[in-house]
Amino acid sequence: MNAQNALTMREFMDSKPQMKYIFFGGKGGVGKTVLAGAAAVAMAQRGKRVLLASTNPVHSLSGMLGQDVFGKATPVEGVPNLWAHEIDTRETIERSKQEIKEKIEWFLKYAEIKGRADEFVESATMNPAFEESAMFENMIEIMFKDEYDFYVFDTAPTANARRLLGMSSVYSLWVNKMMQSRKEAQQMKLKLSFSRKKEEEDPLMDYLISFRDRMERAKVLLTDPEKTAFFFVTLPEALPIAVIKRFINWFEEFGIPIGGVVVNMRIDPSQVSEQADEFVRNRVKMQAEYMEEIDRLFGPMVRAVLPLFETEIRGIDMLKRTASLLFA
Ligand SMILES: Nc1ncnc2c1ncn2[C@@H]1O[C@H](COP(=O)(O)OP(=O)(O)OP(=O)(O)O)[C@@H](O)[C@H]1O
Ligand SMILES: [Mg+2]
Repeated sequence: MNAQNALTMREFMDSKPQMKYIFFGGKGGVGKTVLAGAAAVAMAQRGKRVLLASTNPVHSLSGMLGQDVFGKATPVEGVPNLWAHEIDTRETIERSKQEIKEKIEWFLKYAEIKGRADEFVESATMNPAFEESAMFENMIEIMFKDEYDFYVFDTAPTANARRLLGMSSVYSLWVNKMMQSRKEAQQMKLKLSFSRKKEEEDPLMDYLISFRDRMERAKVLLTDPEKTAFFFVTLPEALPIAVIKRFINWFEEFGIPIGGVVVNMRIDPSQVSEQADEFVRNRVKMQAEYMEEIDRLFGPMVRAVLPLFETEIRGIDMLKRTASLLFA
């Protein structure tokens, strides 16, 4: 069902033996979690030690696997080599807040500014980007630990994923700027103060440097087309197509490697007879039109087309079934 010149999922993975980090994005409800799960199962079956990680704030992974994988990497029953980890977002955010608080307290003391850190922490962490940034840091921490051969991230809706990756360049810019001002401020302080030692410890500066370095390291990994791939999931329907079209443009702009497109929930026309309900026949006709559009827009990028199953996809057996179709 793939376009003539398109690599299948299997061929694509075979052509990238160093592939290590894959992501699934797309409109809400199109099957990102299911496909991340299926890809993780398929890679584990190919002998890699795989971590399936979710930064979604809902318990979608545990639900799909029929097993509690919340809060820590947990071996998935029935699939050797596979671990799943539903990241505790609240804990991650709290930890991040605490770290920021310590840094702000230190800075206030250092700069001899009177005031309570709490107020500053509140204003720094009220920013909606703060939670995303905490989750992003958590994700790259998992990547840097390097305990698995292969990572599948069931990312939050892709608008965030793209923003998060775009953020790594913004972080670098921002931290370099901060470091510049810190240097200038420190020189001022040295000039104005006779009592201070010349070599003063500066944990905030150390933190900024290590932060920038981590972001740069993450960017190197996440923009390496041999190691990283983002897959976009769509349905043969107008809105999900429009969404991934936009994402693909953004990602190309940011130089983030695109693994390809997976079409999900296609009704197999050969299963629908002439006598089928009008509703179903219309649906099939509509899907055929959108399949043509998908071919026109993404042709060589389409890696797999998966059927609409008779029920939702839950449990290891159905995931294995999905995995074998994804990697057919
Ligand atoms: N090919 C399919 N056939 C039948 N049901 C499917 C198929 N793909 C996904 N589903 C079901 O559709 C629902 C949504 O799938 P899933 O949770 O993977 O989507 P999602 O993109 O991760 O959603 P969200 O944006 O909420 O995270 C689930 O109940 C899932 O079991
Ligand atoms: Mg999901």
